Amino acid sequence: MQRRPSDGSVWSAAEGGIDRRSLFALVGGGALAGLIVGCASEGGATSAPDQGGGSTAPVSSLPTVTLPPGSAPPLEPVVRDLQLRITAAPGTAEIVAGSTTDVLRFSVEVVDGDPASVVPTGSYLGPTLHLRQGQRVRVSFDNGLDQDSIVHWHGLVVPEDQDGQPTAAVPPGATYEYDFVVTNRPGTYWYHPHPHHQTGEQVYRGLAGLLIVHGDEPDLPSGPDDLALVLQDRTIGSDGQLSYSITRHDQMAGFVGASLVTNGVVDLELSVARRPHRIRLLNAANARTQHLQLSTGQDLLVIATDGHLLPEAVSVPALVLTPAQRSDLWIDFSSFAVGDRIDLLAADAFIEGAMGGMGMGGGAAGDLVLDHRVAATFVVADTPAEPGPAPVSLGGAPEVDPAVAVNTDSPRQFVLSTRQASHWINGTQWEGRVASEEETVEFGTTELWDIVNTSPMAHPMHVHGEPFTVVERAWENDAAAGSWETVAAGIVETGPRDTVLVWPGQRVRIAIRFTANRGYFTYHCHILEHEDAGMMRNFLVS
Ligand code: C2O
Ligand code: CU
Ligand code: CU
Repeated sequence: MQRRPSDGSVWSAAEGGIDRRSLFALVGGGALAGLIVGCASEGGATSAPDQGGGSTAPVSSLPTVTLPPGSAPPLEPVVRDLQLRITAAPGTAEIVAGSTTDVLRFSVEVVDGDPASVVPTGSYLGPTLHLRQGQRVRVSFDNGLDQDSIVHWHGLVVPEDQDGQPTAAVPPGATYEYDFVVTNRPGTYWYHPHPHHQTGEQVYRGLAGLLIVHGDEPDLPSGPDDLALVLQDRTIGSDGQLSYSITRHDQMAGFVGASLVTNGVVDLELSVARRPHRIRLLNAANARTQHLQLSTGQDLLVIATDGHLLPEAVSVPALVLTPAQRSDLWIDFSSFAVGDRIDLLAADAFIEGAMGGMGMGGGAAGDLVLDHRVAATFVVADTPAEPGPAPVSLGGAPEVDPAVAVNTDSPRQFVLSTRQASHWINGTQWEGRVASEEETVEFGTTELWDIVNTSPMAHPMHVHGEPFTVVERAWENDAAAGSWETVAAGIVETGPRDTVLVWPGQRVRIAIRFTANRGYFTYHCHILEHEDAGMMRNFLVS
């Protein structure tokens, strides 16, 4: 894996039209307590250090992000039931300094239960929901949009009627009632709409938020040292408005925005104390698979994937996160000097034209050129250096044991293909609440599934219901093996996943179990334009 120089200026050419300026999201204990929108200039234990040479804008003109989603508030010691009212409705946000953008946003009210469970973000992103393992959660979802919608808890293991799948979508003005128990392990999840045909646009216009499950975990950085970054991209017109005009190319390739937007703003800067941090990453982009690395060139220590702690921390030179995937990192900022700026760099690991191409233009077959840009900047605050030992064993488990699968001799096949300007699963597309015989599994079993990608582009495949283990990858057609080499070192699959990257020509074998709930569950490509165009099906646990 090629190392990147630590000199940030090397990257400035690639940043193109992105307008750098200062923005601070205060993450100190004071900011945790004071969630009042507009207090960004005060109350942070780690206050904004001098910019040193960068352009500085008056604080009052910056988008107001009072704290990043993910910082864990002090929750009540005893877990009690939680009752929420979630509304999706039009609103406005400041994504780029000084301009007001029309968005859609989730607002969440605690009707009953721990008031600290819901933490506003100050951006268009929905409040971060802090749930507890074993907690009963009741939610009334009010659809204040002018289209159908529904809320899906991505990664939570819940019954069919609690999962917020497309078949549960409710019309404008209607309400959907949820009542479920959080059985998941502590970890990083998220929530987003899931109506058929409109998920891409609704997420793009702002409907998404983090969902963090809390419970017994090994000793990891917490409180203000537990940060989350929600990685997205947006195309913002000169009028300040979000553009989501889907061309035929976008429908085929997925919509990729011109600007990187993290935690709901362009040019996010985070002040970090000189201590170890837990950095929860969520790729909530519609289509962009992110290839992430630090501007310092140092390895990334991954401690969790898709909500599950890994058995052991894994060190990688770069990290690949597909849409919907999460990974938690452990980063120690104690060896940096006060004022140091460490960029999180992101490149779109998009491959097109592999295996003969599909007339979308682009480079030669199988080309993958990584164009890293700054997704967020950590600015080292003036605090004493307090190094901590890197975690080694985290106690997580791969979760699903492939050895107990009932079909080890004949794994179930899901063939992804591209034809007639669309993407297909086993030659079919979305048909609602139906499953074919090939999509019917038996409750209580574990199976091997082979996802075979005959399409010329990569698809991040997501399965609702329960997490899975990636057993192996093999080539059915190795025309894109060269580009895979560019990203392979950033793939972390030693723990459970709920979304897996399937490169062109690959056969990815997963072990998945059906022990939690019977019923119809959705599986689909998490490139939202593919999902909306029908690259989505149900399977039936009978
Ligand atoms: Cu993130 Cu079917 O969803
Ligand atoms: Cu999901
Ligand atoms: Cu896809």
